[in-house]
Amino acid sequence: MQDRNQFKLTIIGPGAMGCLLAATLYKQDCHVSILDYKPDRAKRLKKAGIQVVSLKEAWTAFPNVTAEPESLGPQDWVIVFVKAAQTADAIKRIGPLVGPGTLVVSLQNGIGHESALSKIAKPEQIALGITSQGSTLLNEGHVRHAGSGPTTLGLVIHNPEAKDRLISLATLLNNAGWPSQVVEDIYPYIWRKLIVNVGINALTALCGLTNGKLPQYSETLRLQKMAVAEAWTLSLKKGITLDLSLEEAHDMVNSVCKATAKNRSSMLQDRIKNRPTEIDYINGAITEMGRELGVATPVNEVLTLLVRLNSRLGWKDPII
Ligand code: PAF
Repeated sequence: MQDRNQFKLTIIGPGAMGCLLAATLYKQDCHVSILDYKPDRAKRLKKAGIQVVSLKEAWTAFPNVTAEPESLGPQDWVIVFVKAAQTADAIKRIGPLVGPGTLVVSLQNGIGHESALSKIAKPEQIALGITSQGSTLLNEGHVRHAGSGPTTLGLVIHNPEAKDRLISLATLLNNAGWPSQVVEDIYPYIWRKLIVNVGINALTALCGLTNGKLPQYSETLRLQKMAVAEAWTLSLKKGITLDLSLEEAHDMVNSVCKATAKNRSSMLQDRIKNRPTEIDYINGAITEMGRELGVATPVNEVLTLLVRLNSRLGWKDPII
């Protein structure tokens, strides 16, 4: 076995993104583990390794995979990559991984994860981030690296020690080929990503379209623009410095559709596998905040209700 570097990092969840990151860091000699909640799957993944295919290469990595958090002990970094709806369950198992110097980083889609994470870590130990890396789970432990893009990280509250640790994480990611930066205020980035997900995920899941197809139909383009406009208006009301006009917000969503044209969005992948979706943390969160702040969000509400209903019906075509 190679000499892994001395830092300890655990990724929570062997989903598409968790597997990709674990395999990428493993290649960089990082002491990386994946915490799974399914013991059988953890055993299989540990034995078979994580396989990654991309346009350029294919490789197999052998990070430590376990379902026993006690066996891991306190980590330098814990990266939460479970689906938003699984955060509450996941954090019940993360306790043994969090020591006084641990930084807990959520790289999940959606909004509001810091409040769940504050149950196991102090606010100054919590960081949020967004990534434009794309990954599709082809099979258990087998992912396609679907595209590369920047990763941005920031602390929830200012803390010099935690910032140093976050910068070390960004360095590790950069060295592993994930271009990463640490910013003072992460919230504008979280909101820009949220707006992208608002404009893409529910529509791709409901219509069964890849990201690139959404702007090609006048109906989906119009719905996308309406949903994005509601989220954009809400960001203004919340005082988020998006630094984007509404027109620029539409352009941003459009360019993500183009850059990830062949991708099945994470919510479309959830639909195909009939898994719980992240709707409540994306369009549903917009509707919730809109209600609190008096901003009308009817399109996001309709998208939320349709995704929730279809999830409940198992995404079958109901014939009643
Ligand atoms: O959730 C996703 O699928 C991704 O965040 C994005 C950017 C929409 C690309 O598919």
